[in-house]
Amino acid sequence: MALRTIRTEGDPVLNKVCKPVKEMTARTRELIEDMFDTMYDGMGVGLAANQVGILKRIVVIDVEDGNKYVLINPEIIETEGSQTGEEGCLSVPEMAGTVTRPQKVKVRAFDENMQEFELTGEDFLARAICHECDHLDGRLYTELVEGDLHNVHDTESGDGEEEI
Ligand code: NI
Repeated sequence: MALRTIRTEGDPVLNKVCKPVKEMTARTRELIEDMFDTMYDGMGVGLAANQVGILKRIVVIDVEDGNKYVLINPEIIETEGSQTGEEGCLSVPEMAGTVTRPQKVKVRAFDENMQEFELTGEDFLARAICHECDHLDGRLYTELVEGDLHNVHDTESGDGEEEI
């Protein structure tokens, strides 16, 4: 297990467009493992490679639905409906804000064996897919927040906002 440093807002790497992965290598497999370790260590449910300083189009997601998703070169090919809810990000620690996302998305990506697959996500998984794909294009959710960002410790419930 190896943890990598999560870059935070203000670090220019978070505003860079990541490059497509052309082939799977031992080094990239290690990166993916480290991304999961780093995400779990940070109690997050999603992480994009540029959040650990690597400009590759790779995201990992675990929204506790029993799957560990690895999306390489993901492309959102369909969206449906909308949902408005709280969102947070490991690169913007302790903060959350209201963001509207599609309720359902279909994404085409490659897995860690570079096999193409499609995944349809609804509700929070759809939110996580959109949030992570935005990271790969250098965008943070803070650009999309409706109203103000707030500190998660200031909310009455104190939970319910997971960092993706
Ligand atoms: Ni994020």
